[in-house]
Amino acid sequence: MSNIPRQPIGVFDSGIGGLTVVRALLQRLPHENIVYFGDTARVPYGPKSPQVVREYALDDTEFLLSKNVKMIVVACNTVSAVALDVVQKRAKIPVVGVIVPGANAASAASKKKRIGVIGTLGTISSSAYTNAIKQIDSSVHVFSQPCPLFVPLVEEGWLDHKATEMIAKEYLFPLSLEKIDTLVLGCTHYPLLKNVIAKTLKDSVTLIDSAEATAVEVDRVLEEHALRNTSKEKPNLQFFVSDIPAKFSEIGERFLGAKLGVVKKVSVG
Ligand code: DGL
Repeated sequence: MSNIPRQPIGVFDSGIGGLTVVRALLQRLPHENIVYFGDTARVPYGPKSPQVVREYALDDTEFLLSKNVKMIVVACNTVSAVALDVVQKRAKIPVVGVIVPGANAASAASKKKRIGVIGTLGTISSSAYTNAIKQIDSSVHVFSQPCPLFVPLVEEGWLDHKATEMIAKEYLFPLSLEKIDTLVLGCTHYPLLKNVIAKTLKDSVTLIDSAEATAVEVDRVLEEHALRNTSKEKPNLQFFVSDIPAKFSEIGERFLGAKLGVVKKVSVG
């Protein structure tokens, strides 16, 4: 392990949803080399027990360390919620998760101090966002709601589908009753449902995309540890997955907002 700025930033997720974080990183830090790992063979992590997610997180970390990364970004909200300590303990290089950056952004955006959080069952059961927001300001009211069906709907590409609108209404209705003014999109997949979510909440709520807030934090950490890549060359982006499912490139490009290029299959764990 060495702290050479040209080494890549490692990003991992339970699957391809974390490409929303890569997209935000590329926008903010266009000269950083990136190695991405998506554990597509074992996705989803959201409904699994914290113990299993912690084991998987360790495997994902080992893989990125084998690629000689200079820091690790845990793009998966579920891993960030229940296993960030596991990654930090093993990696011994800077590690950034998505929960604290998302909580900071939400707390800065909320005027009424009434914040909603949506995420997978694992993320919401852990109360990680609630605790992080309360740590910033204990007077904030936090209302959370698991939205497990959003992940398969996004993977299916049903971003503006009638069924997605109906399910969004069902999930978000309890939050709208609480008069929230800010909503944390606490899952890698949810930024792709921004339109449906905004429409359901009648545009009266500020949506917080943890991916964007995380890119800002990564920028800060690179600076703090003098890890920024000052080379102006085109960055090298490498994508690895543990299985290549059908429609992978199509879905992946939707998450990344650009062509994926070569995706290699590897075994972990
Ligand atoms: N990446 C996960 C998250 O952000 C969503 C998909 C899954 O359940 O694995 O929580």
